[in-house]
This record gives sequence, C-alpha cells and structure tokens, in this order.
Amino acid sequence: MKPARLIRIYRSRAMRRRAYELLDDGTWTRFGAFFHQAIIVLVIASVAAVVFETVPSIQERYGRLLDLIELVAIIVFTMEYAARLWCSTEHPPYRHMTASQARVAYLLTPTSIIDLLAVLPFYLAFLFESDLKVFILFRLLRFFKLARYSPVMQTLFDAVLSERRALLGCLYILVSLALVSASIMHLVEREAQPDKLGTIPDAMYWAVVTLTTVGYGDVSPVTPLGKVVASVTALAGIVMLALPVGIIATSFSQAIQRRAFVVTWSMVAHVPMFAKLSAADVAELMRYLQSQTAEENEVIVRRGDVAHSMYFVASGQVEVDLITRTVTLGEGDFFGEMAVIRQTRRSATIRAVTKTKLLVLDAADLRGLIERRPEIGRLIEAEAASRRLIDDLDQDGDLAPSEIADR
Ligand code: CMP
Repeated sequence: MKPARLIRIYRSRAMRRRAYELLDDGTWTRFGAFFHQAIIVLVIASVAAVVFETVPSIQERYGRLLDLIELVAIIVFTMEYAARLWCSTEHPPYRHMTASQARVAYLLTPTSIIDLLAVLPFYLAFLFESDLKVFILFRLLRFFKLARYSPVMQTLFDAVLSERRALLGCLYILVSLALVSASIMHLVEREAQPDKLGTIPDAMYWAVVTLTTVGYGDVSPVTPLGKVVASVTALAGIVMLALPVGIIATSFSQAIQRRAFVVTWSMVAHVPMFAKLSAADVAELMRYLQSQTAEENEVIVRRGDVAHSMYFVASGQVEVDLITRTVTLGEGDFFGEMAVIRQTRRSATIRAVTKTKLLVLDAADLRGLIERRPEIGRLIEAEAASRRLIDDLDQDGDLAPSEIADR
C-alpha cells in the first residue's frame, strides 16, 4: 500500500477514535463538556417545543420559534446519529468485528434505536406527506436521549436493572393482592352494584385504583362488609407500594455511593491491560470500577496510608514520589497495586501532574478479578514485583546480581 494512502487511513482512524471519545465521554475536554451540555439543552428545548405546540395560543404567537427549534434539533440529532454510527467500530465490544458487523450491532442497541426514533418522525412525515403532529409521540421519545448524557439517569437505570428480581417479586405480590381483593369485593358487592362490581374484571379496576391509593371514587363499596374489604385493601396497598420504592431507593443510593461518575467504555479502552478481556468481562469489570477525577497537584495516595484500592490512569499524568526520585505514569498505567496485593501501607506518595481521570478498583474487587482472570493478576503482580525491586535498588544503592536474585 502506498504511504500516502496509509497516512490517510491512519488519519481517518485517529479522527474516528477522537469522535468516539467525544461522543462516548466527551465531558473530559472543554469542547466535549460544551457539546454534551448543548445536546442536553437541545433535547429539553425540543421536547418543550413539542409540548407547547399543542397549546393554540402559544403556537400562534411563537410558532416560528418552535419550528426553528425543531429544525435545529433535527439537523443536530441526525448528524449525531450518523457520527455515532460511523464511529461505532471504535466501541470496545465491537472492535473485533468488521465495520459492517459493528454498525449492525450498534444499530440494534436500545440507545441507537432511541436516537433513530428521535429523528425518524420528521423524515417519515416527509415521506408520507403527513402532518408532523401525527408523530408527536415519537418526537417525545427524544426525552430518553437524556439518559445517555446523564450519569445519574444511567445509575438509576442500573439500580432498577440490578433489582429486577426483587421488583418482579413485588409486582407478583401486587397482582395477587389485586386478584384476591377484586374477587372478594365481587362476591360481597355483586348484587348491590351489578353494573360496577358484577364481574371480576370490573372489580379488578376498583382493586388497582384502591391498591395504588389513587381512589377515583367512581366505584366505591356500599355494603358494610364491602367497606371493610375496601379498608383492608387500601391499607395493604400503602404497604405494598412502599416496598418497590424502598428497594429502588436503597439500590440507587448504594450505586451513587459506589461510583460518583459512570465509567464509560472509552475510559476502560484507555487501559491496554483490559484489551485482553472479553467484552462481557469488561462489562462486568465496569460495574466494579469507580471513576475519580484528580485535579492538578492533588495528592491521590500518600506514603504510609492504609490501602483500600488500586488505580488505572484513563487520561492525564501522575507523579510517583519515591524516596530517591520521582517516576511519571501516564494513560494506561496503573498504581496503588503494591500495598493492596501485599496488604501493607502505601510505599509512595502519588500526585496528579495534570487533571487526571482515574479508574478505581476496590481491594476486594481486585482480588476477585485476579481470581477470575489469573493472567491479569500475573501482569499486575509482575509489575508490582519489578517496581519493588527497583525501589529496593534505589534505596540500597547498587546490589550484586546475587543479592538481586535473593529478593
Ligand atoms: P502502593 O504501595 O500501593 O502505593 C504507592 C504506589 O506507587 C505503589 O503501590 C506503586 O503502584 C507505585 N510505585 C512504587 N514504586 C514505583 C516505581 N518504581 N515505578 C512506578 N510506580 C511505583
């Protein structure tokens, strides 16, 4: 292949990688942070425009402005969709695939489908020469785009997902309760109110409205026994609804405490060691990693401190302050492993040279990772051993080869 062509390919790949990082986790750079915030503002503005369009007085007065918002949103979201599709080959789980396989896999992800639905109504309206308002519901789906740009929403989604079994259990109990109370109410009041509680499906409507504590009042018991059944059902509803709320709240607060920021694929992709893991293993590892940002000059670990975790540098630079000299570590390097593995105190002080993004792995999770993936454990242990040897040499002066072998 000609060198000029090679350079072109290299440049286009580098550009695609940069675009992927910007779209996946651009908050790291100033432009990226601006881009993410601009998309959030546009999503909110375009959803607000859809809502206000339905108010005749506002539509009459600000119709042009609402149309302009819609037009800008369509242009930006279409470009964003195309850019995401173009650089989906950089997404770590798809890197081993061919470009077309990666794009098809990306197209089928829920987030990609939401992105498509955010723009599709506009083009469909053109195609079928129909009124844009027919697709109003689809346009409101844009709101879900926010989930991608909001770490908190992602954490909430994870919290719900991780508690899905407990939540399904609650749903099962609620449905059973609705069935039982509807059946009893039907038996008790079918003669007094045949039009409202004459069938179990009718009584189910009453049971759901009562259990959820909504109580429209359009169906209410008239017999004394019916009133007792209704009271017990309403009380059971309060208790049962508190259960899923409590489950989600606990799981959410644990998830928030566990990681202040969501660890993104592009952050993990910066650590070469993780390239050896399968996509499923990386996805699992991401649940244990926390993201931490260290400002310039911030001390991350201090010599002599107790160690609870090790760190991977996703971007930026840190300086290891050894007794006799300093060592600089950059993107893809790790530190803090020595004290965790040996269960000793920190052997050096480490500070951020520039603003640094770190992935933090708890001691217990590191042990779990080493157990599951011994090859990763060996890599970390080998690096720790060679660092220890260098540090000992630094402190003791030159050692004879026999002395080094002894260590
Ligand atoms: P730990 O002892 O947990 O905390 C300080 C960290 O500094 C240590 O783990 C290593 O990760 C890192 N470190 C120690 N010596 C060196 C070295 N010679 N080169 C690079 N990093 C080092």
